[in-house]
Amino acid sequence: MSVLRLAVLASGRGSNLLAILEAIAKGELEAQVVLVISDKEGALALDHARQRGIPALFHSPRNYPDKEAFEAELARLIEMQKVDYIVLAGFMRILSPYFLSRVKTPILNIHPSLLPAFPGLQAQKQALAYGVRYTGCTVHFVDEGVDAGPILLQAVVPVYPSDTEETLSQRILKEEHKLYPQALQLLAEKRVVLEGRKVIIREEGECSDQACSN
Ligand code: GRF
Repeated sequence: MSVLRLAVLASGRGSNLLAILEAIAKGELEAQVVLVISDKEGALALDHARQRGIPALFHSPRNYPDKEAFEAELARLIEMQKVDYIVLAGFMRILSPYFLSRVKTPILNIHPSLLPAFPGLQAQKQALAYGVRYTGCTVHFVDEGVDAGPILLQAVVPVYPSDTEETLSQRILKEEHKLYPQALQLLAEKRVVLEGRKVIIREEGECSDQACSN
């Protein structure tokens, strides 16, 4: 078992970041958040980090001539911390193929639908409009597509006729807060193996460090 070093990228309220930090504090997740970066100056996620003494940076594309320059500095800031995973938690920017090839660190994201259904923005609104009976959330690896990379874990929630975007989002968010720490703990336990776009999760104890590096 190893303590994962995580960099978390967030643009907003940071409730998933909080859930990760709480799971770490409770001993349910063997990880350390070593850096939080936000592209929004007032993001609550930055406050959550600072209150806990975690380095928290506001990093805005407005201070760079183009996206590549912004992402080059983002990559540099993350690489300095030698993290095991980059964790997107409500980071509202699409990372370009340039960034993905530049950082060798695997990137994870959480999305509020059962992918591949309803990728992109307003996934909960899309689910309501479509009329699905069930939706949920997905933790996945990030690749060059939008919400398209290999799926690590999913959780299902029911959709009720009385649901609004708000009530459905809250129900999904509750599951997100359990799912992201669980997914990260599987990585900490080195139980995750990528086979093409499939993610194999080994049973506890089934895995040597060599067999299950990811
Ligand atoms: C979550 O719904 C997550 O699925 C999506 O963005 C939202 C972030 O919420 N990617 P928070 O900032 O973690 O509270």
